[in-house]
Amino acid sequence: MDGNGRWAKRRFLPRVAGHHKGVEAVRNTVRTCAERGVTALTLFAFSSENWRRPQEEVSLLMQLFISALQQEVERLHQSGICFRVIGDLSRFDRKLVDLIESAQKLTAANTGLILTVAANYGGRWDILQAVNKLRQSNGGDNSPWTEEQLMPHLSMGNLPEPDLFIRTGGEQRISNFLLWQLAYTELYFTDTLWPDFDAQALDLAITSYRKRERRFGRTSEQVSVATETTDRTANA
Ligand code: IPE
Ligand code: MG
Repeated sequence: MDGNGRWAKRRFLPRVAGHHKGVEAVRNTVRTCAERGVTALTLFAFSSENWRRPQEEVSLLMQLFISALQQEVERLHQSGICFRVIGDLSRFDRKLVDLIESAQKLTAANTGLILTVAANYGGRWDILQAVNKLRQSNGGDNSPWTEEQLMPHLSMGNLPEPDLFIRTGGEQRISNFLLWQLAYTELYFTDTLWPDFDAQALDLAITSYRKRERRFGRTSEQVSVATETTDRTANA
């Protein structure tokens, strides 16, 4: 989610106004994804590099996170959404961590949209912490580890890998988001600033995704044969 600051600047408003509007965009996007039947939505809210911002902006973002949790969790729960946070929570205030933990507990059994917020998250950190956990659990084992052994230790655990990655705000970078999981994800970049990201903008991204051919290393011909076979089986 990128572009809150620029959205505010264009309106001669302080950056905080952009972050406030950004929270609204989050609320709308979560609702639209649930309506569209999306299985899992993961939002990159705060990266491990964002601590480098002015102290005032960092505390404001933390405050916004706290108030969004206080206001929204009950509604998320009513909508059957399963809420999770990934990232290194050790640097957050106790109050925020408590709110996150109780929200996760409350919504854990929900079977609707899996909403994950990445906070103080970094893709490299995630891979490293997974390797360290694997080493701890398989300490004595000297045989080479496999992807299947590592994957459950990653923050996204056994969730399916993302089909579509959306970055708003015009930049064309992954910026240390889900590095492992994005290996085969379709990347979509839009100039739309995050506070302006609405249902229409989301649908544009989904339309672009639908036009792509996902080959996973195979040839185009193999993919069309496989799709025809699946279609025939599905129609049988
Ligand atoms: C993204 O918007 C929001 C967060 C990182 C929390 P920015 O704050 O990065 O907005 P720009 O890039 O300055 O426009
Ligand atoms: Mg930015």
